[in-house]
Amino acid sequence: MTESETVVQIRQLEDTDIGGITALDEKIGGEYRPEVWERRITYYLRRDPEALVVAEADGKVVGFMLGEVRSGDFGLEEPTGWIEVMGVDPDLRGKAIGRRLAERMLDHFQSQGASSVRTLVDETMTEITGFFGSLGFEPAPLRSFVKNL
Ligand SMILES: CC(C)(COP(=O)(O)OP(=O)(O)OC[C@H]1O[C@@H](n2cnc3c(N)ncnc32)[C@H](O)[C@@H]1OP(=O)(O)O)[C@@H](O)C(=O)NCCC(=O)NCCS
Repeated sequence: MTESETVVQIRQLEDTDIGGITALDEKIGGEYRPEVWERRITYYLRRDPEALVVAEADGKVVGFMLGEVRSGDFGLEEPTGWIEVMGVDPDLRGKAIGRRLAERMLDHFQSQGASSVRTLVDETMTEITGFFGSLGFEPAPLRSFVKNL
Protein backbone atom coordinates (compact mmCIF):
# COMPACT_ATOMS: atom_id res chain seq x y z
CA MET A 1 0.00 0.00 0.00
CA THR A 2 1.43 3.41 -0.88
CA GLU A 3 1.59 6.25 1.64
CA SER A 4 -1.26 8.05 -0.11
CA GLU A 5 -3.48 5.00 0.49
CA THR A 6 -2.58 4.66 4.16
CA VAL A 7 -5.74 4.01 6.14
CA VAL A 8 -5.91 6.23 9.21
CA GLN A 9 -8.28 5.27 12.00
CA ILE A 10 -9.44 7.79 14.61
CA ARG A 11 -10.16 6.22 17.99
CA GLN A 12 -10.24 6.91 21.70
CA LEU A 13 -6.83 7.09 23.37
CA GLU A 14 -5.85 4.17 25.63
CA ASP A 15 -3.13 4.09 28.27
CA THR A 16 -1.15 1.71 26.03
CA ASP A 17 -0.74 4.62 23.56
CA ILE A 18 1.70 6.46 25.83
CA GLY A 19 4.70 4.84 24.07
CA GLY A 20 3.34 5.70 20.62
CA ILE A 21 2.65 9.30 21.59
CA THR A 22 6.12 9.61 23.13
CA ALA A 23 7.63 8.37 19.85
CA LEU A 24 5.51 10.74 17.79
CA ASP A 25 6.41 13.69 20.03
CA GLU A 26 10.09 12.79 19.59
CA LYS A 27 9.63 12.73 15.81
CA ILE A 28 7.95 16.16 15.91
CA GLY A 29 10.15 17.89 18.50
CA GLY A 30 13.39 15.88 18.44
CA GLU A 31 13.32 15.15 22.17
CA TYR A 32 12.56 11.80 23.87
CA ARG A 33 10.32 12.66 26.86
CA PRO A 34 8.73 9.48 28.25
CA GLU A 35 8.19 10.87 31.77
CA VAL A 36 6.45 13.96 30.42
CA TRP A 37 3.96 11.90 28.43
CA GLU A 38 3.41 9.33 31.16
CA ARG A 39 2.52 12.13 33.58
CA ARG A 40 0.51 14.18 31.12
CA ILE A 41 -1.61 11.35 29.73
CA THR A 42 -2.21 9.84 33.15
CA TYR A 43 -3.52 13.26 34.22
CA TYR A 44 -5.88 13.53 31.24
CA LEU A 45 -7.07 9.92 31.51
CA ARG A 46 -8.17 10.57 35.09
CA ARG A 47 -10.25 13.55 33.99
CA ASP A 48 -12.15 12.68 30.83
CA PRO A 49 -10.78 9.64 28.95
CA GLU A 50 -13.49 9.78 26.27
CA ALA A 51 -12.30 13.22 25.17
CA LEU A 52 -8.86 11.93 24.22
CA VAL A 53 -8.25 10.82 20.65
CA VAL A 54 -5.50 9.29 18.60
CA ALA A 55 -5.03 8.60 14.90
CA GLU A 56 -3.56 5.20 14.11
CA ALA A 57 -2.08 3.91 10.86
CA ASP A 58 -0.37 0.55 10.37
CA GLY A 59 -0.47 0.00 14.14
CA LYS A 60 1.36 3.27 14.86
CA VAL A 61 0.11 6.44 16.53
CA VAL A 62 0.28 9.13 13.83
CA GLY A 63 -1.70 11.83 15.61
CA PHE A 64 -3.23 12.70 18.96
CA MET A 65 -5.30 15.40 20.62
CA LEU A 66 -5.80 16.03 24.34
CA GLY A 67 -8.40 18.25 25.93
CA GLU A 68 -11.38 18.36 28.23
CA VAL A 69 -14.55 20.23 29.16
CA ARG A 70 -14.15 22.66 32.03
CA SER A 71 -16.50 25.05 33.81
CA GLY A 72 -15.63 27.99 35.99
CA ASP A 73 -12.10 28.56 34.70
CA PHE A 74 -11.05 32.09 33.69
CA GLY A 75 -14.51 33.38 34.54
CA LEU A 76 -16.14 31.13 31.93
CA GLU A 77 -19.00 29.58 33.89
CA GLU A 78 -20.62 27.66 31.03
CA PRO A 79 -19.14 24.25 30.14
CA THR A 80 -16.40 24.94 27.60
CA GLY A 81 -14.34 22.44 25.63
CA TRP A 82 -10.59 23.11 25.62
CA ILE A 83 -8.18 21.67 23.06
CA GLU A 84 -4.86 21.68 24.86
CA VAL A 85 -2.23 19.48 23.19
CA MET A 86 -2.02 17.91 19.74
CA GLY A 87 0.34 16.61 17.15
CA VAL A 88 0.22 14.96 13.72
CA ASP A 89 3.04 12.95 12.14
CA PRO A 90 4.99 15.38 9.90
CA ASP A 91 4.97 12.76 7.10
CA LEU A 92 1.17 12.63 7.10
CA ARG A 93 0.19 16.27 7.46
CA GLY A 94 -2.29 17.88 5.11
CA LYS A 95 -4.42 14.73 4.95
CA ALA A 96 -7.18 15.87 7.29
CA ILE A 97 -5.90 13.86 10.26
CA GLY A 98 -5.87 16.95 12.50
CA ARG A 99 -9.34 17.89 11.29
CA ARG A 100 -10.70 14.40 12.00
CA LEU A 101 -9.16 14.38 15.47
CA ALA A 102 -10.74 17.74 16.23
CA GLU A 103 -14.15 16.75 14.86
CA ARG A 104 -14.22 13.68 17.08
CA MET A 105 -13.17 15.70 20.13
CA LEU A 106 -15.71 18.46 19.40
CA ASP A 107 -18.50 15.87 19.07
CA HIS A 108 -17.58 14.62 22.52
CA PHE A 109 -17.45 18.15 23.96
CA GLN A 110 -20.95 18.77 22.60
CA SER A 111 -22.20 15.52 24.12
CA GLN A 112 -20.88 16.80 27.45
CA GLY A 113 -22.96 19.99 27.19
CA ALA A 114 -20.28 22.35 25.90
CA SER A 115 -21.62 25.01 23.55
CA SER A 116 -18.19 26.34 22.59
CA VAL A 117 -14.61 25.18 22.28
CA ARG A 118 -11.48 27.20 22.96
CA THR A 119 -7.75 26.87 22.69
CA LEU A 120 -4.71 29.07 23.30
CA VAL A 121 -2.27 29.58 20.44
CA ASP A 122 1.00 31.48 20.19
CA GLU A 123 0.06 33.80 17.35
CA THR A 124 3.56 33.57 15.86
CA MET A 125 2.87 29.86 15.20
CA THR A 126 1.12 30.40 11.89
CA GLU A 127 0.74 26.68 11.22
CA ILE A 128 -1.41 26.31 14.32
CA THR A 129 -3.38 29.53 13.80
CA GLY A 130 -3.95 28.45 10.17
CA PHE A 131 -5.16 25.06 11.30
CA PHE A 132 -7.64 26.42 13.84
CA GLY A 133 -8.77 29.14 11.44
CA SER A 134 -9.61 26.47 8.85
CA LEU A 135 -11.64 24.67 11.48
CA GLY A 136 -13.76 27.78 12.07
CA PHE A 137 -12.03 29.11 15.20
CA GLU A 138 -11.84 32.89 15.53
CA PRO A 139 -9.73 35.11 17.78
CA ALA A 140 -11.55 35.67 21.07
CA PRO A 141 -11.37 38.61 23.47
CA LEU A 142 -9.74 36.60 26.26
CA ARG A 143 -6.13 37.71 26.65
CA SER A 144 -3.34 35.70 28.15
CA PHE A 145 -1.09 37.52 30.67
CA VAL A 146 2.33 36.38 31.79
CA LYS A 147 4.86 37.46 34.42
CA ASN A 148 8.31 35.96 34.65
CA LEU A 149 9.27 34.41 38.00
C1 LIG B 1 -1.44 21.76 13.15
C2 LIG B 1 -1.51 20.26 12.80
C3 LIG B 1 -2.20 19.50 13.93
C4 LIG B 1 -2.34 20.11 11.51
O1 LIG B 1 -2.53 18.73 11.26
P1 LIG B 1 -2.91 18.22 9.80
O2 LIG B 1 -3.38 16.80 9.92
O3 LIG B 1 -1.80 18.46 8.85
O4 LIG B 1 -4.10 19.19 9.42
P2 LIG B 1 -5.32 18.88 8.43
O5 LIG B 1 -4.77 18.20 7.20
O6 LIG B 1 -6.40 18.18 9.16
O7 LIG B 1 -5.79 20.33 8.04
C5 LIG B 1 -7.03 20.87 8.47
C6 LIG B 1 -7.11 22.29 7.99
O8 LIG B 1 -6.07 23.07 8.59
C7 LIG B 1 -5.31 23.72 7.61
N1 LIG B 1 -3.89 23.67 7.95
C8 LIG B 1 -3.21 22.57 8.33
N2 LIG B 1 -1.90 22.87 8.48
C9 LIG B 1 -1.78 24.18 8.16
C10 LIG B 1 -0.69 25.07 8.10
N3 LIG B 1 0.57 24.64 8.37
N4 LIG B 1 -0.90 26.35 7.74
C11 LIG B 1 -2.15 26.79 7.42
N5 LIG B 1 -3.24 25.97 7.44
C12 LIG B 1 -3.05 24.69 7.82
C13 LIG B 1 -5.51 22.90 6.34
O9 LIG B 1 -5.34 23.68 5.20
C14 LIG B 1 -6.91 22.37 6.48
O10 LIG B 1 -7.84 23.32 6.00
P3 LIG B 1 -8.90 22.93 4.86
O11 LIG B 1 -9.57 21.66 5.33
O12 LIG B 1 -9.79 24.12 4.84
O13 LIG B 1 -8.09 22.71 3.64
C15 LIG B 1 -0.10 19.69 12.53
O14 LIG B 1 0.55 20.49 11.57
C16 LIG B 1 0.78 19.61 13.78
O15 LIG B 1 0.75 18.60 14.49
N6 LIG B 1 1.59 20.63 14.02
C17 LIG B 1 2.45 20.68 15.20
C18 LIG B 1 1.58 20.84 16.43
C19 LIG B 1 2.34 21.33 17.62
O16 LIG B 1 3.26 22.13 17.51
N7 LIG B 1 1.89 20.87 18.79
C20 LIG B 1 2.45 21.32 20.01
C21 LIG B 1 1.58 22.41 20.65
S1 LIG B 1 -0.03 21.84 21.10
